[in-house]
Amino acid sequence: MALEQEQLAEACEKRRTFAIISHPDAGKTTLTEKLLLYSGMIHTAGMVRGRKGRKAAASDWMAMEQERGISITASAMQFTYNNTIINVLDTPGHEDFSEDTYRTLTAADCAIMVIDAAKGVERQTRKLFEVCRLRKIPVLTFINKMDMPGQDPLDLMNEVENVLQIHSSAFNWPIGTGKEFCGVLNCATKECLFFTKIAAGGAQKAAITRIPLYNEETKERLGKEYFEKLIQELELLEMAGNPFSQKEFLAGNVTPIFFASALTNFGIEPFFDAFVNLAPAPHTRMANNDKGEEIEIDPVQTPFSAYVFKLQANMDKRHRDSMAFLRICSGRFDRDLVVKHHRLGKEVRLSRPHGMVAGERTTLDIAYAGDVIGVINPGVFAIGDTISLTGGFNFKPLPQFQPEIFARVQPKDVGKRKSFDKGVLQLTDEGAIQLLRPYDLSGDLIFAAVGQLQFEVMQYRLKDEYSVETIINSLPYQCSAWLIGDKETFKKPTTAVIVQDRFDRPIILFGEQWEKQYAIKQNPDHQLVDILS
Ligand code: G4P
Repeated sequence: MALEQEQLAEACEKRRTFAIISHPDAGKTTLTEKLLLYSGMIHTAGMVRGRKGRKAAASDWMAMEQERGISITASAMQFTYNNTIINVLDTPGHEDFSEDTYRTLTAADCAIMVIDAAKGVERQTRKLFEVCRLRKIPVLTFINKMDMPGQDPLDLMNEVENVLQIHSSAFNWPIGTGKEFCGVLNCATKECLFFTKIAAGGAQKAAITRIPLYNEETKERLGKEYFEKLIQELELLEMAGNPFSQKEFLAGNVTPIFFASALTNFGIEPFFDAFVNLAPAPHTRMANNDKGEEIEIDPVQTPFSAYVFKLQANMDKRHRDSMAFLRICSGRFDRDLVVKHHRLGKEVRLSRPHGMVAGERTTLDIAYAGDVIGVINPGVFAIGDTISLTGGFNFKPLPQFQPEIFARVQPKDVGKRKSFDKGVLQLTDEGAIQLLRPYDLSGDLIFAAVGQLQFEVMQYRLKDEYSVETIINSLPYQCSAWLIGDKETFKKPTTAVIVQDRFDRPIILFGEQWEKQYAIKQNPDHQLVDILS
């Protein structure tokens, strides 16, 4: 292998690019913060306060940035843990949830699913997990808040299996729960890890004492009764549990389960260590060449290539430019690289790329497969665009996600109709908003989005970039699905409507979640699809 290839292979092998999927409040921010603490990026992780009341547009990380003085860009951050270069992609939750959140997942090579031990698998986690399943993204499960009263650990594993239809395999097992949670048992080595809190509020790493399970000291620490209970649980687990295989994990068929408490740092270190070992380095991605044939893009062998997974709207008045975030899929990126833009069929210089290194906001000189770069977008980049050094191929289009928020939107001033139409066209092209048309053409267009934030961004950008003030009237639909099958024979609930998307595909809007379930049962010959890949 040439020296350059060797360097590339080494850089690629060292990288882990992942996203956290969770329902709001499960502990994503706390876990992210602990990653920074354990990687040495910050020395005194404390609680990140004031997030709850923040503005809708600010991501958790932006709030963290302000409070901790850490420089974190809006889309990803990079740091080193145990000689491994970690890229964490931001997947906003709460009111920030939007199509961006889904699309960001496509840029990850694996995901950490954070579950609240008391609440189990919640709605938003399910939705995000579906994207992982669709894209065959391997998922590690982090069952959080073990320091609080929660569900039985075996029940939680069963819930993961039943709700998400994936096998689960416990990597560690909690020793005690709630107030008694004092350690975890490594299921493979049968070693107990007992944790000791060093500082209040988890501001410092927890100390770990390692003792083999079958040892007098362990028995003494736990007491005979609890020791026997633990052995029993372990036996049950071995009978009922699934064997773990790295191959099945990478194929998305089994998820390793870890029990921990992010807040107290109990179980964090063994989790991160396992994560670095289990999570895949950037791997081959599929693309289509100009003849329409499927080709493999190898992260090391193929010269630089990347695709746009997120556009950051011009939300900050001080920085007028908008940013395009690119996931590098292969090769090496150098500053000022001139690349081929596949959709536009022209060359683009990637100047002023922004680094994502926590600790310092830098201009990036070199980046490799797995890394995320943010470049100024002078209107040339749309979601899903492929750029590459050699040209001649396009990464597979990003999936489309069922919208859940619907509205009619009009310019306040009818005289601004032309600018309004132009702006809306631009925003739909960028994938910032979806536009739906009724079949009979008598009604107005319906604006659709995955999250409320998308409407806010749209309104802001129409005003800022097209000088059009808008009125938004919400429509009473709660969910939707694409219809596969004959729309004439589809038995539609009375309050539902069938409209078409910009590619003339029928999409049904439902007034209530249960109506959708009902429609699925009523129409066994039709298919209702939430995500179009
Ligand atoms: P999110 O980003 O997924 O929305 O969750 P976040 O980390 O903000 O955590 C939500 C709440 O849960 C926070 O409390 C946080 O302190 C708490 N939490 C996270 N991990 C653990 C854990 O392992 N054990 C316990 N007991 N609590 C945990 P909050 O009071 O809502 O916010 P804050 O005011 O403390 O920031």
